[in-house]
Amino acid sequence: MSAADLELKTPAIARTRPIVVTGGAGFIGSNLADRLASEGENILVVDSLERPGVEANLTWLKRNHPRQISSIRADVRDPETAQVVNEASAIFHFAAQVAVTTSLKAPLQDLDTNIRGTTMLLEAVRKLRARIPFIFASTNKVYGNLADVPLETFPTRVSPADPHIRDFGINESQSLDFHTPYGCSKGAADQYVLDYARTFDIPATVMRMSCIYGPRQCGTEDQGWVAHFLIRSLSGRPIVIFGDGRQVRDILHVADAVEAYMRSYRNIESCRGQAFNLGGGPSNAVSLLDVIDEIARIAGTRPSVRHAPGRPSDQRFYVSDTRKITAAFGLPAPRQWRNGLAHLAHWIDSDARDFLPSIRNEPAGLNA
Ligand SMILES: NC(=O)c1ccc[n+]([C@@H]2O[C@H](COP(=O)([O-])OP(=O)(O)OC[C@H]3O[C@@H](n4cnc5c(N)ncnc54)[C@H](O)[C@@H]3O)[C@@H](O)[C@H]2O)c1
Repeated sequence: MSAADLELKTPAIARTRPIVVTGGAGFIGSNLADRLASEGENILVVDSLERPGVEANLTWLKRNHPRQISSIRADVRDPETAQVVNEASAIFHFAAQVAVTTSLKAPLQDLDTNIRGTTMLLEAVRKLRARIPFIFASTNKVYGNLADVPLETFPTRVSPADPHIRDFGINESQSLDFHTPYGCSKGAADQYVLDYARTFDIPATVMRMSCIYGPRQCGTEDQGWVAHFLIRSLSGRPIVIFGDGRQVRDILHVADAVEAYMRSYRNIESCRGQAFNLGGGPSNAVSLLDVIDEIARIAGTRPSVRHAPGRPSDQRFYVSDTRKITAAFGLPAPRQWRNGLAHLAHWIDSDARDFLPSIRNEPAGLNA
Protein backbone atom coordinates (compact mmCIF):
# COMPACT_ATOMS: atom_id res chain seq x y z
CA MET A 1 0.00 0.00 0.00
CA SER A 2 1.36 3.42 -0.86
CA ALA A 3 0.71 6.81 0.68
CA ALA A 4 -1.21 7.67 -2.49
CA ASP A 5 -3.49 4.68 -1.89
CA LEU A 6 -4.17 5.95 1.59
CA GLU A 7 -5.27 9.34 0.32
CA LEU A 8 -7.28 7.82 -2.50
CA LYS A 9 -9.22 5.33 -0.45
CA THR A 10 -10.05 7.38 2.62
CA PRO A 11 -11.55 10.66 1.44
CA ALA A 12 -14.44 10.42 3.91
CA ILE A 13 -12.13 10.48 6.92
CA ALA A 14 -10.76 13.91 6.15
CA ARG A 15 -13.71 15.43 8.09
CA THR A 16 -12.50 14.24 11.48
CA ARG A 17 -9.68 11.99 12.50
CA PRO A 18 -11.04 8.45 12.52
CA ILE A 19 -10.59 5.74 15.08
CA VAL A 20 -8.46 3.06 13.42
CA VAL A 21 -9.56 -0.54 13.99
CA THR A 22 -6.94 -2.94 12.68
CA GLY A 23 -8.46 -6.34 11.97
CA GLY A 24 -11.75 -4.43 11.78
CA ALA A 25 -13.21 -6.86 9.25
CA GLY A 26 -12.64 -9.70 11.69
CA PHE A 27 -14.99 -11.02 14.32
CA ILE A 28 -14.34 -8.79 17.34
CA GLY A 29 -13.07 -5.84 15.29
CA SER A 30 -16.22 -5.66 13.14
CA ASN A 31 -18.49 -5.84 16.18
CA LEU A 32 -16.52 -3.04 17.83
CA ALA A 33 -16.46 -0.93 14.65
CA ASP A 34 -20.24 -1.32 14.38
CA ARG A 35 -20.72 -0.14 17.97
CA LEU A 36 -18.33 2.81 17.60
CA ALA A 37 -20.03 3.90 14.38
CA SER A 38 -23.44 3.56 16.04
CA GLU A 39 -22.21 6.05 18.63
CA GLY A 40 -21.27 8.55 15.92
CA GLU A 41 -17.56 7.84 15.50
CA ASN A 42 -15.78 7.70 12.15
CA ILE A 43 -13.90 4.47 11.69
CA LEU A 44 -11.03 3.44 9.46
CA VAL A 45 -10.85 -0.34 9.16
CA VAL A 46 -7.37 -1.64 8.33
CA ASP A 47 -7.46 -5.30 7.37
CA SER A 48 -5.65 -7.55 4.91
CA LEU A 49 -8.85 -9.67 4.60
CA GLU A 50 -6.55 -12.61 5.19
CA ARG A 51 -9.18 -14.56 7.07
CA PRO A 52 -11.69 -16.34 4.81
CA GLY A 53 -15.20 -14.93 5.20
CA VAL A 54 -14.37 -11.56 6.77
CA GLU A 55 -15.04 -9.62 3.58
CA ALA A 56 -18.74 -10.19 4.34
CA ASN A 57 -18.24 -8.43 7.69
CA LEU A 58 -16.78 -5.41 5.93
CA THR A 59 -19.65 -5.30 3.43
CA TRP A 60 -22.10 -5.47 6.33
CA LEU A 61 -20.31 -2.67 8.20
CA LYS A 62 -20.30 -0.38 5.15
CA ARG A 63 -23.93 -1.12 4.44
CA ASN A 64 -24.88 -0.25 8.04
CA HIS A 65 -22.73 2.87 8.25
CA PRO A 66 -22.02 4.13 4.72
CA ARG A 67 -20.84 7.56 5.89
CA GLN A 68 -18.79 6.45 8.86
CA ILE A 69 -16.86 3.37 7.84
CA SER A 70 -13.84 3.69 5.56
CA SER A 71 -11.44 0.86 4.90
CA ILE A 72 -8.02 0.07 3.61
CA ARG A 73 -6.96 -3.40 2.58
CA ALA A 74 -3.49 -3.46 4.09
CA ASP A 75 -1.17 -5.83 5.91
CA VAL A 76 0.23 -4.75 9.28
CA ARG A 77 3.51 -6.37 8.28
CA ASP A 78 3.91 -3.73 5.59
CA PRO A 79 5.82 -0.76 7.12
CA GLU A 80 3.67 1.67 5.10
CA THR A 81 0.53 0.47 6.89
CA ALA A 82 1.70 2.23 10.05
CA GLN A 83 1.14 5.54 8.25
CA VAL A 84 -2.55 5.23 9.10
CA VAL A 85 -1.58 6.21 12.62
CA ASN A 86 -0.86 9.74 11.39
CA GLU A 87 -4.55 10.16 10.58
CA ALA A 88 -5.93 8.48 13.69
CA SER A 89 -7.50 9.71 16.90
CA ALA A 90 -7.15 6.26 18.53
CA ILE A 91 -6.05 2.73 17.61
CA PHE A 92 -7.77 -0.54 18.46
CA HIS A 93 -5.34 -3.25 17.40
CA PHE A 94 -7.02 -6.57 16.58
CA ALA A 95 -5.21 -7.62 13.38
CA ALA A 96 -3.19 -10.70 14.13
CA GLN A 97 -2.22 -14.19 13.21
CA VAL A 98 -4.86 -15.68 15.52
CA ALA A 99 -4.37 -19.45 15.58
CA VAL A 100 -2.01 -21.61 17.65
CA THR A 101 -2.14 -24.29 14.94
CA THR A 102 -0.97 -21.88 12.21
CA SER A 103 1.78 -20.55 14.47
CA LEU A 104 3.14 -24.09 14.83
CA LYS A 105 3.28 -24.46 11.04
CA ALA A 106 4.63 -20.97 10.27
CA PRO A 107 6.28 -19.44 13.37
CA LEU A 108 8.07 -16.68 11.48
CA GLN A 109 4.91 -15.45 9.80
CA ASP A 110 3.24 -15.48 13.21
CA LEU A 111 6.13 -13.51 14.75
CA ASP A 112 6.18 -11.02 11.92
CA THR A 113 2.46 -10.28 12.11
CA ASN A 114 2.02 -10.29 15.85
CA ILE A 115 5.26 -8.81 17.16
CA ARG A 116 6.64 -6.69 14.33
CA GLY A 117 3.18 -5.60 13.13
CA THR A 118 2.26 -4.43 16.63
CA THR A 119 5.60 -2.76 17.30
CA MET A 120 5.55 -0.85 14.02
CA LEU A 121 2.17 0.61 14.97
CA LEU A 122 3.46 1.49 18.43
CA GLU A 123 6.49 3.16 16.90
CA ALA A 124 4.25 5.27 14.68
CA VAL A 125 2.21 6.28 17.73
CA ARG A 126 5.40 7.16 19.64
CA LYS A 127 6.47 9.51 16.85
CA LEU A 128 3.20 11.49 16.91
CA ARG A 129 3.18 14.80 18.67
CA ALA A 130 -0.19 14.02 20.27
CA ARG A 131 -0.59 10.99 22.51
CA ILE A 132 -3.46 8.82 21.21
CA PRO A 133 -5.08 5.78 22.89
CA PHE A 134 -3.79 2.37 21.82
CA ILE A 135 -5.89 -0.62 22.92
CA PHE A 136 -4.51 -4.09 22.28
CA ALA A 137 -6.28 -7.44 22.00
CA SER A 138 -4.14 -9.92 23.94
CA THR A 139 -4.96 -13.43 25.09
CA ASN A 140 -5.15 -15.75 28.08
CA LYS A 141 -2.44 -17.78 26.32
CA VAL A 142 0.14 -15.42 27.90
CA TYR A 143 -0.31 -17.49 31.09
CA GLY A 144 0.83 -20.74 29.44
CA ASN A 145 -0.78 -24.11 30.03
CA LEU A 146 -1.29 -23.48 33.79
CA ALA A 147 -0.01 -26.98 34.53
CA ASP A 148 0.78 -25.86 38.09
CA VAL A 149 -2.91 -25.29 38.90
CA PRO A 150 -3.99 -28.56 40.59
CA LEU A 151 -7.24 -29.87 39.15
CA GLU A 152 -9.86 -32.41 40.12
CA THR A 153 -11.55 -34.37 37.37
CA PHE A 154 -15.31 -34.89 37.25
CA PRO A 155 -17.33 -36.79 34.63
CA THR A 156 -17.97 -33.75 32.41
CA ARG A 157 -15.35 -31.20 33.47
CA VAL A 158 -12.22 -30.42 35.43
CA SER A 159 -12.29 -28.10 38.44
CA PRO A 160 -9.48 -26.37 40.38
CA ALA A 161 -8.63 -27.94 43.74
CA ASP A 162 -7.90 -24.47 45.15
CA PRO A 163 -11.26 -22.98 46.24
CA HIS A 164 -10.07 -19.42 45.57
CA ILE A 165 -9.27 -20.18 41.92
CA ARG A 166 -12.51 -22.17 41.69
CA ASP A 167 -14.54 -19.19 42.92
CA PHE A 168 -12.74 -16.37 41.11
CA GLY A 169 -10.53 -17.74 38.32
CA ILE A 170 -7.06 -16.64 37.19
CA ASN A 171 -6.09 -13.06 37.92
CA GLU A 172 -3.53 -10.71 36.38
CA SER A 173 -0.85 -11.58 38.96
CA GLN A 174 -0.53 -15.05 37.40
CA SER A 175 3.03 -15.50 36.06
CA LEU A 176 3.51 -14.94 32.37
CA ASP A 177 4.59 -18.19 30.73
CA PHE A 178 4.51 -18.12 26.96
CA HIS A 179 3.84 -21.46 25.25
CA THR A 180 3.67 -22.10 21.49
CA PRO A 181 4.78 -19.53 18.90
CA TYR A 182 1.32 -17.87 19.10
CA GLY A 183 1.63 -17.56 22.90
CA CYS A 184 5.14 -16.12 22.47
CA SER A 185 4.18 -13.61 19.78
CA LYS A 186 1.00 -12.37 21.44
CA GLY A 187 2.77 -12.34 24.81
CA ALA A 188 5.68 -10.31 23.42
CA ALA A 189 3.28 -7.84 21.77
CA ASP A 190 1.32 -7.58 25.05
CA GLN A 191 4.57 -6.69 26.86
CA TYR A 192 5.62 -4.21 24.16
CA VAL A 193 2.30 -2.40 24.51
CA LEU A 194 2.67 -2.18 28.29
CA ASP A 195 6.26 -1.03 27.96
CA TYR A 196 5.43 1.66 25.41
CA ALA A 197 2.87 2.92 27.93
CA ARG A 198 5.52 2.92 30.66
CA THR A 199 8.59 4.12 28.77
CA PHE A 200 7.06 6.44 26.18
CA ASP A 201 3.98 7.58 28.07
CA ILE A 202 1.53 6.20 25.49
CA PRO A 203 -2.06 5.87 26.80
CA ALA A 204 -2.16 2.16 26.02
CA THR A 205 -3.99 -0.76 27.60
CA VAL A 206 -4.11 -4.54 27.12
CA MET A 207 -7.12 -6.89 27.16
CA ARG A 208 -6.14 -10.52 27.84
CA MET A 209 -9.15 -12.26 26.40
CA SER A 210 -10.47 -15.70 27.01
CA CYS A 211 -12.90 -17.29 24.50
CA ILE A 212 -15.11 -14.69 22.84
CA TYR A 213 -18.05 -15.90 20.74
CA GLY A 214 -20.98 -14.40 18.86
CA PRO A 215 -22.26 -13.16 15.51
CA ARG A 216 -19.79 -12.50 12.68
CA GLN A 217 -17.33 -15.13 13.92
CA CYS A 218 -15.82 -17.28 11.17
CA GLY A 219 -15.22 -20.12 13.62
CA THR A 220 -13.03 -22.83 12.15
CA GLU A 221 -10.96 -25.82 13.07
CA ASP A 222 -8.16 -23.46 14.02
CA GLN A 223 -9.84 -20.71 15.99
CA GLY A 224 -13.29 -19.76 17.27
CA TRP A 225 -14.46 -23.12 18.60
CA VAL A 226 -17.87 -22.08 19.98
CA ALA A 227 -19.06 -20.74 16.61
CA HIS A 228 -17.36 -23.64 14.84
CA PHE A 229 -19.25 -26.20 16.95
CA LEU A 230 -22.56 -24.47 16.34
CA ILE A 231 -22.04 -23.94 12.60
CA ARG A 232 -21.14 -27.59 12.11
CA SER A 233 -23.88 -28.95 14.33
CA LEU A 234 -26.62 -26.82 12.81
CA SER A 235 -25.63 -28.05 9.37
CA GLY A 236 -25.57 -31.68 10.51
CA ARG A 237 -21.84 -32.20 10.32
CA PRO A 238 -19.61 -33.96 12.89
CA ILE A 239 -17.32 -32.25 15.38
CA VAL A 240 -13.84 -33.30 16.47
CA ILE A 241 -12.85 -32.56 20.07
CA PHE A 242 -9.13 -32.52 20.75
CA GLY A 243 -8.67 -34.10 24.19
CA ASP A 244 -11.39 -35.50 26.44
CA GLY A 245 -13.67 -32.43 26.28
CA ARG A 246 -13.50 -31.84 30.03
CA GLN A 247 -11.27 -28.77 29.55
CA VAL A 248 -12.93 -25.61 30.88
CA ARG A 249 -13.12 -22.09 29.44
CA ASP A 250 -15.05 -18.98 30.43
CA ILE A 251 -16.86 -17.90 27.31
CA LEU A 252 -17.93 -14.30 26.74
CA HIS A 253 -20.48 -12.97 24.26
CA VAL A 254 -18.91 -10.45 21.89
CA ALA A 255 -21.38 -7.70 22.88
CA ASP A 256 -19.96 -7.87 26.41
CA ALA A 257 -16.39 -7.82 25.10
CA VAL A 258 -17.24 -4.76 22.99
CA GLU A 259 -18.71 -3.05 26.06
CA ALA A 260 -15.40 -3.59 27.89
CA TYR A 261 -13.42 -2.15 24.94
CA MET A 262 -15.72 0.88 24.75
CA ARG A 263 -15.32 1.59 28.44
CA SER A 264 -11.55 1.13 28.36
CA TYR A 265 -11.39 3.63 25.49
CA ARG A 266 -13.62 6.16 27.24
CA ASN A 267 -11.60 5.76 30.46
CA ILE A 268 -8.15 5.37 28.94
CA GLU A 269 -6.46 7.75 31.39
CA SER A 270 -7.42 5.60 34.37
CA CYS A 271 -6.36 2.30 32.79
CA ARG A 272 -3.26 3.26 30.79
CA GLY A 273 -0.33 0.92 31.26
CA GLN A 274 -2.48 -1.87 32.68
CA ALA A 275 -3.48 -5.36 31.55
CA PHE A 276 -6.96 -6.78 32.22
CA ASN A 277 -8.27 -10.33 32.04
CA LEU A 278 -11.46 -10.28 29.97
CA GLY A 279 -13.74 -13.30 29.79
CA GLY A 280 -17.08 -14.65 30.91
CA GLY A 281 -15.78 -15.34 34.44
CA PRO A 282 -16.78 -18.18 36.76
CA SER A 283 -20.51 -17.87 35.98
CA ASN A 284 -19.76 -18.62 32.32
CA ALA A 285 -17.19 -21.37 32.85
CA VAL A 286 -18.07 -24.31 30.65
CA SER A 287 -16.42 -27.49 29.51
CA LEU A 288 -16.52 -28.46 25.86
CA LEU A 289 -18.82 -31.31 26.85
CA ASP A 290 -21.19 -28.79 28.49
CA VAL A 291 -21.30 -26.83 25.24
CA ILE A 292 -22.02 -29.98 23.22
CA ASP A 293 -24.90 -30.81 25.58
CA GLU A 294 -26.36 -27.34 25.18
CA ILE A 295 -25.99 -27.44 21.39
CA ALA A 296 -27.87 -30.76 21.40
CA ARG A 297 -30.68 -29.05 23.33
CA ILE A 298 -30.77 -26.05 20.95
CA ALA A 299 -30.56 -28.14 17.78
CA GLY A 300 -32.94 -30.82 19.03
CA THR A 301 -30.42 -33.46 18.04
CA ARG A 302 -27.07 -34.54 19.39
CA PRO A 303 -24.08 -33.65 17.18
CA SER A 304 -21.82 -36.46 16.16
CA VAL A 305 -18.55 -36.08 18.09
CA ARG A 306 -15.18 -37.73 17.60
CA HIS A 307 -12.22 -37.34 19.96
CA ALA A 308 -8.62 -36.78 18.84
CA PRO A 309 -5.46 -36.35 20.93
CA GLY A 310 -5.12 -33.05 22.83
CA ARG A 311 -3.24 -30.17 21.26
CA PRO A 312 0.15 -28.77 22.38
CA SER A 313 -0.07 -26.61 25.52
CA ASP A 314 -3.85 -26.61 25.56
CA GLN A 315 -4.97 -25.28 28.94
CA ARG A 316 -7.02 -27.85 30.86
CA PHE A 317 -8.60 -25.02 32.82
CA TYR A 318 -8.79 -21.33 32.13
CA VAL A 319 -11.34 -19.01 33.71
CA SER A 320 -10.72 -15.27 33.93
CA ASP A 321 -10.86 -13.53 37.26
CA THR A 322 -12.87 -10.56 36.02
CA ARG A 323 -12.92 -8.58 39.27
CA LYS A 324 -10.24 -6.11 38.15
CA ILE A 325 -11.86 -5.22 34.83
CA THR A 326 -15.38 -5.19 36.30
CA ALA A 327 -14.33 -2.77 39.03
CA ALA A 328 -12.22 -0.59 36.72
CA PHE A 329 -15.03 0.03 34.23
CA GLY A 330 -18.18 -0.73 36.21
CA LEU A 331 -19.05 -3.50 33.76
CA PRO A 332 -22.53 -5.02 33.93
CA ALA A 333 -22.90 -8.77 34.46
CA PRO A 334 -22.16 -10.59 31.20
CA ARG A 335 -24.80 -12.40 29.17
CA GLN A 336 -25.31 -15.94 30.48
CA TRP A 337 -23.67 -18.49 28.20
CA ARG A 338 -26.80 -20.54 27.43
CA ASN A 339 -28.61 -17.41 26.38
CA GLY A 340 -25.57 -16.34 24.33
CA LEU A 341 -25.36 -19.69 22.53
CA ALA A 342 -29.07 -19.51 21.66
CA HIS A 343 -28.51 -15.98 20.30
CA LEU A 344 -25.57 -17.14 18.15
CA ALA A 345 -27.56 -20.15 16.90
CA HIS A 346 -30.39 -17.83 15.89
CA TRP A 347 -27.95 -15.58 14.02
CA ILE A 348 -26.41 -18.54 12.18
CA ASP A 349 -29.87 -19.76 11.16
CA SER A 350 -31.27 -16.41 10.11
CA ASP A 351 -28.73 -13.70 9.29
CA ALA A 352 -25.55 -15.49 8.33
CA ARG A 353 -26.38 -16.55 4.80
CA ASP A 354 -23.95 -14.09 3.17
CA PHE A 355 -21.25 -15.00 5.58
CA LEU A 356 -21.15 -18.75 5.91
CA PRO A 357 -20.41 -20.04 2.38
CA SER A 358 -16.70 -19.34 2.63
CA ILE A 359 -16.37 -21.28 5.86
CA ARG A 360 -18.93 -23.99 5.13
CA ASN A 361 -16.33 -26.48 3.98
CA GLU A 362 -14.06 -26.19 6.99
CA PRO A 363 -13.06 -29.56 8.45
CA ALA A 364 -14.17 -30.42 11.98
CA GLY A 365 -11.95 -29.59 14.91
CA LEU A 366 -11.17 -27.35 17.83
CA ASN A 367 -8.59 -24.98 19.04
CA ALA A 368 -9.85 -23.63 22.32
N1 LIG B 1 -11.75 -14.53 19.45
C1 LIG B 1 -11.19 -14.83 20.60
O1 LIG B 1 -11.75 -15.61 21.38
C2 LIG B 1 -9.87 -14.20 20.99
C3 LIG B 1 -9.30 -14.59 22.22
C4 LIG B 1 -8.09 -14.02 22.61
C5 LIG B 1 -7.47 -13.09 21.80
N2 LIG B 1 -8.03 -12.75 20.60
C6 LIG B 1 -7.34 -11.74 19.80
O2 LIG B 1 -8.30 -10.79 19.37
C7 LIG B 1 -7.97 -10.31 18.07
C8 LIG B 1 -9.16 -10.46 17.13
O3 LIG B 1 -9.53 -11.83 17.10
P1 LIG B 1 -10.78 -12.33 16.24
O4 LIG B 1 -11.33 -13.53 16.91
O5 LIG B 1 -11.65 -11.18 15.94
O6 LIG B 1 -10.02 -12.82 14.93
P2 LIG B 1 -10.35 -12.61 13.37
O7 LIG B 1 -9.46 -13.55 12.65
O8 LIG B 1 -11.82 -12.70 13.13
O9 LIG B 1 -9.88 -11.10 13.12
C9 LIG B 1 -8.56 -10.78 12.82
C10 LIG B 1 -8.57 -9.92 11.56
O10 LIG B 1 -7.22 -9.55 11.29
C11 LIG B 1 -7.01 -9.65 9.89
N3 LIG B 1 -5.59 -9.90 9.68
C12 LIG B 1 -4.90 -11.04 9.86
N4 LIG B 1 -3.60 -10.85 9.56
C13 LIG B 1 -3.48 -9.56 9.19
C14 LIG B 1 -2.38 -8.75 8.77
N5 LIG B 1 -1.16 -9.28 8.67
N6 LIG B 1 -2.62 -7.46 8.48
C15 LIG B 1 -3.86 -6.92 8.56
N7 LIG B 1 -4.93 -7.64 8.93
C16 LIG B 1 -4.75 -8.94 9.26
C17 LIG B 1 -7.89 -10.79 9.42
O11 LIG B 1 -8.21 -10.70 8.04
C18 LIG B 1 -9.10 -10.65 10.33
O12 LIG B 1 -10.10 -9.87 9.70
C19 LIG B 1 -6.72 -11.06 17.65
O13 LIG B 1 -5.61 -10.24 17.94
C20 LIG B 1 -6.71 -12.28 18.54
O14 LIG B 1 -5.40 -12.75 18.78
C21 LIG B 1 -9.21 -13.30 20.18
